[in-house]
Amino acid sequence: MKVYGFLKDVTGASRVTNARRKLIESGSPENLYHDHIKEVARELHPQVTRVVVTKCEDVSPTARRFTFEAVDGDVLPPFQCGQYVSLDLEINGTVTTRPYSICSAPFEAREGEHPFFQITVRNGRPETGFAANWLYANVKEGDRFDAHLPFGQFYYEPLRDSRTIVALAGGSGITPFCSMAKEIAHGTLDADLTILYGSVSTKDIILEKELNAIDCERVRFVNVISGDEPYEGEKGFLTRDLIQKYSGEDTTYFVCGPLPMYHFVKGELEALNVPPRRIRMEVFGAPRNVAEAEGYPKDFEPKTFHLTVLRGRQEDVIEASSLEPLTVALERAGIRNGSRCRSGACGYCRAKLVSGDVFIPQDGDGRRRADRQYGYVHACSTWPLSDCIIRIPIM
Ligand SMILES: Cc1cc2nc3c(=O)[nH]c(=O)nc-3n(C[C@H](O)[C@H](O)[C@H](O)COP(=O)(O)OP(=O)(O)OC[C@H]3O[C@@H](n4cnc5c(N)ncnc54)[C@H](O)[C@@H]3O)c2cc1C
Ligand code: FES
Repeated sequence: MKVYGFLKDVTGASRVTNARRKLIESGSPENLYHDHIKEVARELHPQVTRVVVTKCEDVSPTARRFTFEAVDGDVLPPFQCGQYVSLDLEINGTVTTRPYSICSAPFEAREGEHPFFQITVRNGRPETGFAANWLYANVKEGDRFDAHLPFGQFYYEPLRDSRTIVALAGGSGITPFCSMAKEIAHGTLDADLTILYGSVSTKDIILEKELNAIDCERVRFVNVISGDEPYEGEKGFLTRDLIQKYSGEDTTYFVCGPLPMYHFVKGELEALNVPPRRIRMEVFGAPRNVAEAEGYPKDFEPKTFHLTVLRGRQEDVIEASSLEPLTVALERAGIRNGSRCRSGACGYCRAKLVSGDVFIPQDGDGRRRADRQYGYVHACSTWPLSDCIIRIPIM
């Protein structure tokens, strides 16, 4: 840059300011610039979609399926089989979210007069369930929700996965495979799917009628019952022998269910020397009892700590139980920090741990390496072991 001297430079700068002011005054109040890429991104992945419940049906003695359609001129965004929706919920004064895999097929959200998507919620246990129990007991046709979708990486990708898929499901982990099975039968997903679905009893089988109704030679549905009741089909757990029996030459395994099943099946697949690139896993949530998680400090007595929460210039001190993740402590105190997967994977609840000791289970540690190095945590998958200070974004 050329320097002309103090006076010339200062008057030069004021000429620029004046010219800028004139341009602004003569400008259009409308935004003339359209960022087409942002517009497409917004359509594919809107911040929020307003939805209404149009049907509630029992799909087992302990599970209910909810059908949602878009309202207020919103359009359901496209999704892949296996992705999930995060619902905003307000339960007895607590604002929270819960993720649910979409059990309907993507084509059902695109085609027909009333495009829709569905989730199936298993009723929680009375002593530990919170959102599941509330949804099961309270939601009725006509109720409206803010939904965020689609999320998750648990979907078939032809460039990466082999076309022969064996799905290993437990409990409500059957839901993403119901979506996959329907899309294959519709001819819009090119894959061969065998679902091995483990349940303790035939009474626990979810979406059985819907899956049995799928008439497609590329989809096979096998129930595996581990309880004592007499059963003519497959019995026992999802063992390596059973998995091998239903596997092809080059198979990709999709595993979805509760944490204990995930651990068991992972061991069986390792025993079969299945390479990690052929295994895709989705865990339905954080550990129920963190004290039982691998690596949790032995003999640690449950305590309630002080959690100092920094947001911009605001500072709040709240209570945080060592038995609940930081996200729950924030929600109980009415502090917004957003969450989507609630199992440590997506990073949506990322916070800076300024000080304090915490426990992060290995299975729920989806942080980037740099985040680990510089002291960031995913609040939904972080349990306090001392008084802590965290910094969260202003929402
Ligand atoms: C990707 C993904 C997909 C999933 N898909 C399905 C599905 O298809 N079907 C299905 O049934 N489930 C699914 N889940 C599990 C689902 O998100 C819920 O975890 C499940 O419904 C149980 O919810 P819950 O609130 O009863 O229990 P949890 O989610 O385990 O929450 C219970 C916890 O809530 C907290 N809590 C209790 N009381 C309060 C309060 N007053 N204020 C604030 N917090 C409180 C406590 O910490 C308690 O331990 C999925 C999970 C993931 C991660
Ligand atoms: S909500 Fe996804 S990592 Fe916490």
